[in-house]
Amino acid sequence: MKIIFLGAPGAGKGTQAEKTSVRLGIPTISTGAIIREAVKTGTEMGLKAKKSMEQGALVEDDVVIGIIKERLAKSDCANGFILDGFPRTVPQAIALEKMGITLDKVISIEVPDEVISARMTGRRVCSTCGASYHVTDNPSRNGETCDKCDTPLTVRADDAPEVVLSRLAVYHETTEPLKDYYKAKGMLEIVDGNGPVEQTSARTLEAIGK
Ligand code: AP5
Repeated sequence: MKIIFLGAPGAGKGTQAEKTSVRLGIPTISTGAIIREAVKTGTEMGLKAKKSMEQGALVEDDVVIGIIKERLAKSDCANGFILDGFPRTVPQAIALEKMGITLDKVISIEVPDEVISARMTGRRVCSTCGASYHVTDNPSRNGETCDKCDTPLTVRADDAPEVVLSRLAVYHETTEPLKDYYKAKGMLEIVDGNGPVEQTSARTLEAIGK
């Protein structure tokens, strides 16, 4: 299956993408994770993207489209994939079509903005493998290190409250119009993400038809 997860920052795209990826045996491709890795290792692309990310703005379409083109060409995508965080603009959606990708479903995970802000405050991430936790709602086993690789958990730089507000504004203005874009193509499924992680997972699998 070829699936897109849409949703505001902190809606739970990464959390659900990871669970769905295990369930369906297909990789998750997170543009945010790829860009964060490039920033960490200081590549040319990372240096260009760093400022936009820190301010809660989007990275240029050309850069992100290039990342996706390269990633989708890898052999593990042959049987399907989940896109987490791409596309985020209509030009990115058009570029995906031009790559010859036929999508099965576009899942929009919906959570009110005020719930998002609380989630971001409690988010803790693994800087090694990118796993995402929440201090109360989705904690790691010992609350301090990653369950998968034992790295100490940290707070993402763009989870500062003022940056979260900018990211939400960018989402509503630039990314949310993609819902209409995919609705018109008959691909959009809305999933209520305002509930416990497992409940959202069950709704997501139902929306995917699995
Ligand atoms: P990206 O990393 O994609 O960030 P985002 O879309 O803002 O999404 P998040 O990762 O913040 O949230 P999420 O929806 O995955 O939620 P999560 O599952 O972690 O992008 C970062 C930046 O990169 C962008 O701002 C931009 O600069 C750049 N970028 C990336 N893609 C781009 C593109 N295509 N074009 C241009 N620029 C791009 O959950 C959040 C928290 O809530 C966690 O703590 C989690 O444990 C908790 N949680 C999850 N589900 C639940 C639940 N049901 N109940 C309670 N808590 C929950």
